[in-house]
Amino acid sequence: MRIASRSVRDSDHTFGNEEPRKGRKTTVTNTAVPVGLPTAGWLDPAELACDPYPSYERLRRETPVAWAPAVKKVLISTFEGCSFGERHPEIFSSNVSGGTMAKALGGRPLIRKDDPEHASERAPMNRTLRPKQIMEIWADKFEINARRYLAEMVSNSQGAADLNAAYAAPLAAKNLCDMVGMPDVEPLDLARWSVDFIAGTGNVLDRQDIWDRCERSRAECDAALDETVARLRRHPDPSITSMLLEGGMAEDQVRNNIKLTISGGMNEPQHMITNMVWLLDRSPDQKAAVLADPGLWKQAFTEAARLFSPIGMITRQTIADVEIQGVAIPAGTQIGMILSSANRDSTQFTNPDQFDIHRPPGTNLAFGSGVHQCAGKWAAQKAIGDIAVPLLYRELPGLKRDKSQQEIWDGWVFRGLTSLPVVW
Ligand code: HEM
Repeated sequence: MRIASRSVRDSDHTFGNEEPRKGRKTTVTNTAVPVGLPTAGWLDPAELACDPYPSYERLRRETPVAWAPAVKKVLISTFEGCSFGERHPEIFSSNVSGGTMAKALGGRPLIRKDDPEHASERAPMNRTLRPKQIMEIWADKFEINARRYLAEMVSNSQGAADLNAAYAAPLAAKNLCDMVGMPDVEPLDLARWSVDFIAGTGNVLDRQDIWDRCERSRAECDAALDETVARLRRHPDPSITSMLLEGGMAEDQVRNNIKLTISGGMNEPQHMITNMVWLLDRSPDQKAAVLADPGLWKQAFTEAARLFSPIGMITRQTIADVEIQGVAIPAGTQIGMILSSANRDSTQFTNPDQFDIHRPPGTNLAFGSGVHQCAGKWAAQKAIGDIAVPLLYRELPGLKRDKSQQEIWDGWVFRGLTSLPVVW
């Protein structure tokens, strides 16, 4: 089976550039320039997409809290600042917009809600995504899927392939098909819906071609959900969709949250597979260590997620005046918390730009933290860190990057390898 290898690119979206919320007292909107804040006028999204880390280092050093005209938000780039934002959802609201995300998905999902509304929608999802359920329900399926796509990659090629297109993308899509209770949906289709929903979420320029793609994917996804919901009402199972239905959630809201999960649960695990292989390939000692001691795979996964965080930035909106690192931010300001910069903050991590699986245990923000911490964190850890990548090296011990071919990194809001040629 072939599958779209395209990953989400920042040209398609930015979660951040959404309309400010209506109906609340605000002193600044995302179209206004906040007065008196440090400004990072030099910040260039094109440079960020090529290699964001030098710009993040400059932001942290010069203006850790800064208005960035190019992305029309106040950016917080330090570990301290982002952690503060995550710990204070009563100031940093997730209810950023009823705008593009709601239009893209057909309604407002839990990621754009605050507690207690958010918590009541998150609870049923957690019931099938906790570590115990991942072990009991999903781990075997993740293993079957990984073996299937590895076998296909090997049989469809002669010792060389693009690891993203041949393994990472189809595997991430198939795992997600299973988790949302759509095992018979073609992973190629689900991967396309995912890309189109995210493109719609970032469609601040209101491009009709993007809305058309989004609408087509929404219609296909809704048709699949018609069948899925009817089946699961008759025969509940442990899938996320079934859990939401069993929890008594209105069907419209189930659909919004499943479309969110399809948007958010595909691209990042896909990138984690190729990121890990890329990093291990460039660190032969650490690769040797993890192959000798499989207990180190968890650290390798965590460290790769820190160093190349697949979600670079998350968006919030202040609903109260607040001061961070000496900078006063008024209520109503749209905020970009740059997790992938926070994860390279030298005040938190020694030699932050180095891949080091032996780093002392500690927190990083790759999966967010606080009430919106990634619902799929344990699933991704198991599917990718414990199964997909170790299996690759067990079955193909000679696996390495094909340095004669071009590899492609892209994006900053979502960043990862869109092509990783390998040989074995
Ligand atoms: C390595 C893979 C992944 C990474 C790095 C990642 C990262 C994140 C981050 C940073 C957030 C917080 C967003 C925010 O606060 O605005 C988030 C939320 C979320 N993620 Fe993931 N994610 C990954 C995989 C997954 C998977 C596999 C699923 C589905 C099974 C998933 C489902 C979700 C959902 C539903 C939310 C919203 C949670 C809420 O608002 O309470 N993610 N993810």
